[in-house]
Amino acid sequence: MKTKYAIVFIFIVALVIIEKESNIISRVSDKLIQRQNPSQTPQTPLDYNNTNGALNILKLLLSKLTNGNFSNLPDDPRPEGWLRSSLSGGQKHVLLLATTRTGSSFVGEFFNQHGEGMFYLFEPLWHVERMLASAAEGNNGTVLGGIYRDVLRGLFACDFEPLERFISPSPQEHVTAALFRRESSLSLCEEPVCTAPVKDVFERYHCKTRRCGPLNLTLASESCRSKQHHTIKTVRVRQLDSLQPLVEDPHLDIRIIQLVRDPRAILASRMVAFSSKYQTWKTWALDGQVPEDDEEVKRLKGNCDHIRTSAEVGLSQPRWLRGRYMLVRYEDIAREPMDKAREMYQFTGIPFSDKARDWIAKNTLTTQGASGIYSTQKNSSEQAEKWRFNIPFTLARAVQRVCGPTMKLFGYKFVHDEKTLVNKSISLLEDKIFY
Ligand SMILES: *[C@@H]1O[C@H](CO)[C@@H](O)[C@H](O)[C@H]1NC(C)=O
Ligand SMILES: *[C@@H]1O[C@H](CO)[C@@H](O)[C@H](O)[C@H]1NC(C)=O
Ligand SMILES: *[C@@H]1O[C@H](CO)[C@@H](O)[C@H](O)[C@H]1NC(C)=O
Ligand SMILES: *[C@@H]1O[C@H](CO)[C@@H](O)[C@H](O)[C@H]1NC(C)=O
Ligand SMILES: *[C@@H]1O[C@H](CO)[C@@H](O)[C@H](O)[C@H]1NC(C)=O
Ligand SMILES: *[C@@H]1O[C@H](CO)[C@@H](O)[C@H](O)[C@H]1NC(C)=O
Repeated sequence: MKTKYAIVFIFIVALVIIEKESNIISRVSDKLIQRQNPSQTPQTPLDYNNTNGALNILKLLLSKLTNGNFSNLPDDPRPEGWLRSSLSGGQKHVLLLATTRTGSSFVGEFFNQHGEGMFYLFEPLWHVERMLASAAEGNNGTVLGGIYRDVLRGLFACDFEPLERFISPSPQEHVTAALFRRESSLSLCEEPVCTAPVKDVFERYHCKTRRCGPLNLTLASESCRSKQHHTIKTVRVRQLDSLQPLVEDPHLDIRIIQLVRDPRAILASRMVAFSSKYQTWKTWALDGQVPEDDEEVKRLKGNCDHIRTSAEVGLSQPRWLRGRYMLVRYEDIAREPMDKAREMYQFTGIPFSDKARDWIAKNTLTTQGASGIYSTQKNSSEQAEKWRFNIPFTLARAVQRVCGPTMKLFGYKFVHDEKTLVNKSISLLEDKIFY
């Protein structure tokens, strides 16, 4: 069967190339080809019939799909019903959509810890970004967005093959030691996916809590199929509307949770977490000046705009997304983790398991120490407000200038002086309910 699809794939690609070679695609594929094979410059990617060539062809096809338009392609070459089995029995597919430093790993745990019936993946798109992001540079993300979507579609259907093409080094017989942050996914570190503790050459095991050998993706896929619910966390999808075909896929029952956070807090947190990358911001903090036409500032603006545009799409409840989109502020989770988790579960239609509840209780409630009872809410929201003391007012103001509309939409209050920024009795969060 596989060869048959491969042939169909190649055929489609040939058609696509002959019929309509868009600039973006040729640019992307040129770069890909240069990267894979710097010594040769083939006329067309079809000159390759080695593994790299196959990879390139697949990438090309994926790129083509990314235009968001399946209509000029023949129908999905996969057989009717290839995914059907995954829909029987109220299966849910949750996509946790965030950006870095919004607490998404933590919120991902709410689902990762659900228990038996959950298959959770942590940032699988990392591999795609690493392989393609620089090649796709210079276009507005449409191409990359479509590839992300198609890899997600595979993963939600427990098909790791689309992802495998982007794992480097390439998996051998569907076994890899290189899956990004495998240990962050309970399902990949439990029986039966966790196979005998075969040490690799570096005597590294591939899970924290258990001794597991390299990951057998065939086993992972089987385990995935045996689970009722699926959650994927990603900070890489930039445009919600790029996911429309995924949401509309009749074989999936997708729920999207978009997690947002005060952009000032995000910047403060990134400056700590990615210290060297944010050196310029530190310099500006000292200077007291933030040049608005700087690339860094433009990037921040771009990020804010993408987050806002996605949220606007979601909140406007287009038909394709109705009942399938939820916006959650990190700050609200910090205030009331259990209530928010319950709400999120309710939205997804997945039962809020005792296991998940216990995990959240354990990881958000402070233990009652000798000195008395501390309220959870106070404590975790205090954590969530620490940034106010870590970011110089100059930078907070710059973020407000650049991300103003985004902050307004989400209900983050502006501050106009340093005193207000660091005055904890003044909340910077408007009460806001998003539907
Ligand atoms: C493609 O592969 C076949 C055998 O697998 C080989 O004979 C042929 O020369 C290859 N073609 C090119 C263009 O490399
Ligand atoms: C997709 O193709 C259809 C028909 O060819 C066209 O009407 C539509 O505008 C296209 N959409 C995009 C996003 O390119
Ligand atoms: C991205 O670029 C494509 C083609 O270059 C264009 O059709 C599309 O409108 C752009 N999208 C955005 C959001 O700018
Ligand atoms: C991976 O698991 C599958 C399913 O159990 C098995 O058939 C296959 O031999 C395993 N692969 C390797 C390389 O061990
Ligand atoms: C938060 O919890 C820590 C212990 O985990 C405690 O030291 C601190 O005083 C608490 N803060 C508040 C405001 O309750
Ligand atoms: C903080 O804000 C509150 C409420 O506006 C105000 O009463 C208080 O004086 C402020 N504290 C400082 C140190 O400015």
